[in-house]
Amino acid sequence: MRIGILGSGLMGGKLGTILARAGHEVVFSYARTEQKLKRLAREAHANARAGTPADAARDSDVVLLAVHWSRVDDVLHQTGNLDGKIILSCSLPMSADDTELVIAHTASGAETLAQMVPQARVVSAFNTVPSEVLFGVFAARRRAKKPSLIFCGDDKRSKRVAARLIGDVGFEPVDVGPLRMARYTEPFALLIAQIAYEGKGGPEIAYRFERFRT
Ligand SMILES: NC(=O)c1ccc[n+]([C@@H]2O[C@H](COP(=O)([O-])OP(=O)(O)OC[C@H]3O[C@@H](n4cnc5c(N)ncnc54)[C@H](OP(=O)(O)O)[C@@H]3O)[C@@H](O)[C@H]2O)c1
Repeated sequence: MRIGILGSGLMGGKLGTILARAGHEVVFSYARTEQKLKRLAREAHANARAGTPADAARDSDVVLLAVHWSRVDDVLHQTGNLDGKIILSCSLPMSADDTELVIAHTASGAETLAQMVPQARVVSAFNTVPSEVLFGVFAARRRAKKPSLIFCGDDKRSKRVAARLIGDVGFEPVDVGPLRMARYTEPFALLIAQIAYEGKGGPEIAYRFERFRT
């Protein structure tokens, strides 16, 4: 697939690199310097290049939104037309100081994003794991027992695409239902971050759901 990365920081930089190494065509965009985007493209050692957000979206099948909530308006403005595109969003609706969700309980960042770009198809994914775990999960992707990764969205075809990309990164995709489930997955992401960054043993936390039958 052709994948445009909107936000090439901790999440976008790593996921773009992994997806390029998994065989996809990747355009890195939206960092503070063009040198950073070029470095990411070079270090991916695969089919990757640097571009503007508009370049990243123009020829892509999927865009990955991976910016701080405070940058969403700006990156969407720079990206332009996203009609018909699949947006995989790992952006959480965090306050400026990253201490709390600014949208919660009766709405979610993912639903708010879908209202901002009504002609795009939003899937909420990759936001319930710390970025520190991603390269390790990719390296272990051939193991039988993979960590789980929850995702949600309203459009079936977009969810099939999301599930494939989640699998390519090395997770077992777990479809938790329509986009409004992001009201529960976004607070869950904060719980995982709490365990990762405040708990013992370092941030390389993944989780796995098992159907446990005796
Ligand atoms: N990090 C995680 O483990 C994690 C986990 C779950 C969810 N999330 C969510 O994922 C989203 C992305 O998080 P992240 O940790 O990847 O953030 P990040 O490392 O700060 O990446 C954001 C990207 O936006 C770019 N950017 C910021 N301001 C800019 C500006 N004025 N002009 C151009 N580019 C600008 C940054 O550029 P530079 O690269 O030059 O700084 C960076 O590439 C957030 O919504 C976060 O809540 C993150």
